[in-house]
Amino acid sequence: MANATKPYSVAIDLGSGALKSFNKKVEVKLRDLRGFFYDRGAVDAAVYGLKNPTVYEYFENSQPSARGQMNFGVTTLNPGKVGSEYYMTRGHYHAKKRAAEIYVGLGGKGIVVMQTKEGRFFHSPISRGRIVYIPPLWAHRTVNTGEEKLSFFYAYASDAGHDYGTIRRKGFAKLVVEKGGRPKIIDNPKYSP
Ligand code: PA5
Ligand code: NI
Repeated sequence: MANATKPYSVAIDLGSGALKSFNKKVEVKLRDLRGFFYDRGAVDAAVYGLKNPTVYEYFENSQPSARGQMNFGVTTLNPGKVGSEYYMTRGHYHAKKRAAEIYVGLGGKGIVVMQTKEGRFFHSPISRGRIVYIPPLWAHRTVNTGEEKLSFFYAYASDAGHDYGTIRRKGFAKLVVEKGGRPKIIDNPKYSP
């Protein structure tokens, strides 16, 4: 079990991406994402038809929120779509300005979309063996564009904080949608900078 004051280690199954021990588990279901997908009607229809499926989970070794500490864990994001938009995480800015994050792809295939409040945008593929560096001030969202579960390891400052409200209100500048059987990054018509 995680102990904030002593060093410790935990096992990870690099085959399945399963973290063997964690002190926090969060399950995010489709209904929780209603305000984040472009097509809310499609969310409502899918929630009704599929009985509110799990979109993603994360398993974390959480330390106390204190300067110098880090949280780390594994996120697993199921394959699926809402309308033409692929399943994705809510996405967030870190509440603290000086808080970067590192992702390490473990399995599956997807895209990490990142943006700043000044209007910069970047996207990076994520898959097994790929590391994504998310600098301070960049909001980040992960999208599963494959047919299998996407899993990745993450680590960030434990006092970074999560600002979901800005993304809920304004959205991301770009959407990742399926077009002709392939992922395509398009402008979000509803985006307000
Ligand atoms: O710390 C991170 O950026 C990730 O672990 C995310 O929290 C995780 O992937 C879930 O996404 P979100 O926090 O945007 O719901
Ligand atoms: Ni983060």
